[in-house]
Amino acid sequence: MFLSGEAGIGKTTVLDAFAARVAAEPDVMIAHGACVEHYGGAEAYLPVLEALGRLLREPGSAERTIRLRAICADVDRSTAVAS
Ligand SMILES: Nc1ncnc2c1ncn2[C@@H]1O[C@H](COP(=O)(O)OP(=O)(O)OP(=O)(O)O)[C@@H](O)[C@H]1O
Ligand SMILES: [Mg+2]
Repeated sequence: MFLSGEAGIGKTTVLDAFAARVAAEPDVMIAHGACVEHYGGAEAYLPVLEALGRLLREPGSAERTIRLRAICADVDRSTAVAS
């Protein structure tokens, strides 16, 4: 899902409110990555990699690593079936 809109329309406010509401859910992981102009032009997924990197550096991330590994394996399998 992409949230887009003109500058200052309230995108960050909506995302912060959403994240605050779902943060207490047991199966929810929240990660932040940022697109910075003039930086990282060689890697299209840099914001995603940044988000995952932060998630895995937080305290208590061992279980997250296991869950993310399982998610990646699922994605890998479904991609293999699709191609
Ligand atoms: N629903 C709202 N009602 C009133 N003020 C709001 C509302 N949503 C956001 N604002 C205010 O509008 C300003 C801009 O909001 P916000 O930073 O969320 O926008 P943005 O779309 O993320 O901006 P940018 O494009 O610069 O990243 C902030 O001062 C915020 O407090
Ligand atoms: Mg914003």
